[in-house]
Amino acid sequence: MNTPRNTILIGDTLKHLRRLSDASVDCVITSPPFFLLRDYGVAGQIGLEATVDDWVAKLRAVFAEVARVLTPTGSIWIDLGDSYSRHPRYGAAAKSLLLAPERLLLALAEDGLIVRNKIAWAKTNPMPSSVTDRFNTTYDSVYFLVRSPRYYFDLDAVRVPHTSGGSRSEKEGTSKRPDWAGPLSGSNSGLHRARLAGIPGHLLGKNVGDVWRIPTASFRGAHFATFPQALVERPLLATCPLKVCVACGIPWKAGPGKTFVLGERKPASTVETHVRRYPNRWRVLRQPGPLEPGCSCNGATRRGRVLDPFMGSGTVAQVAERLGRDWLGIEINPGYVDMAWKRLGRKPPPLREAA
Ligand SMILES: C[S@@+](CC[C@H](N)C(=O)[O-])C[C@H]1O[C@@H](n2cnc3c(N)ncnc32)[C@H](O)[C@@H]1O
Repeated sequence: MNTPRNTILIGDTLKHLRRLSDASVDCVITSPPFFLLRDYGVAGQIGLEATVDDWVAKLRAVFAEVARVLTPTGSIWIDLGDSYSRHPRYGAAAKSLLLAPERLLLALAEDGLIVRNKIAWAKTNPMPSSVTDRFNTTYDSVYFLVRSPRYYFDLDAVRVPHTSGGSRSEKEGTSKRPDWAGPLSGSNSGLHRARLAGIPGHLLGKNVGDVWRIPTASFRGAHFATFPQALVERPLLATCPLKVCVACGIPWKAGPGKTFVLGERKPASTVETHVRRYPNRWRVLRQPGPLEPGCSCNGATRRGRVLDPFMGSGTVAQVAERLGRDWLGIEINPGYVDMAWKRLGRKPPPLREAA
């Protein structure tokens, strides 16, 4: 295995990625340098290309390697922001958005990655702007991609409390699929059934959706593009398994476990009755069962592993350590690498590999 764990490789990400083993990480969470937005002060950095299409070409090559080192059930999360063109030579008319994230995502989809979500990270404390002829930019897009249609995803690990009990027609069972619904319009049959049963939705809470309101990071080191930890936690909990079979790479999953009404330790069979009886006074808690294998190999296991190919000051590593996952980072700027080790509360290892 040529994929080290719990360390940071210093140097160009593409060069390092090419040396990592196939299918050796379960999840990738990263924020690549945005086009012409920052100068990270190191030769060979990505982000200062002559045109937006050159930037796409560089990142396309990086994500081709990322897809190779990802397990077939793995996921990729990419935080991306756009920038405004100053001259047509960059790839769009002056003052136009360059549509850099869209260009990159079209290329990655063409390369075979499946785009599962485009999440708006709505910053609750955006940078103020003096611009007067358009609206201020207050969100980044976080794209969620997978290699294959069947992938590891633990929605229960990241559900949030319900805020509404559903419409009257849903509760009374008079709602039906509208006549205008087209062939790709979503079917909500599961939610509909729950509401007919007098329950606002899934007992463990609702699907958080694709607008995440999260403040920008308060870390005030010398790195100015730090992820907030909350932006990393949800993807990590949902798509980086705790345990994986070494032989076949299939993740383990939590068994059914037990469900309780919060504070009352009521057994599962009475939870739905309780929820129906007190529709506005319930909160259900899940005690997940022990992890169970997803395969019949019956062999050794390893911890789930997350990779950040643009590690910066090490936010992904910090969150991974707190949540019991292994991690690997790659970063071109040695100063940021030192900052990351400091944030992790450790000294850099003596032998530091550079590429
Ligand atoms: C947006 S920042 C990532 C910030 C990170 N998420 C954090 O929480 O600190 C992008 C990082 O990519 C690094 N970078 C730029 N070009 C690189 C390359 N060719 N190889 C590896 N890292 C690179 C930059 O030095 C910068 O730290």
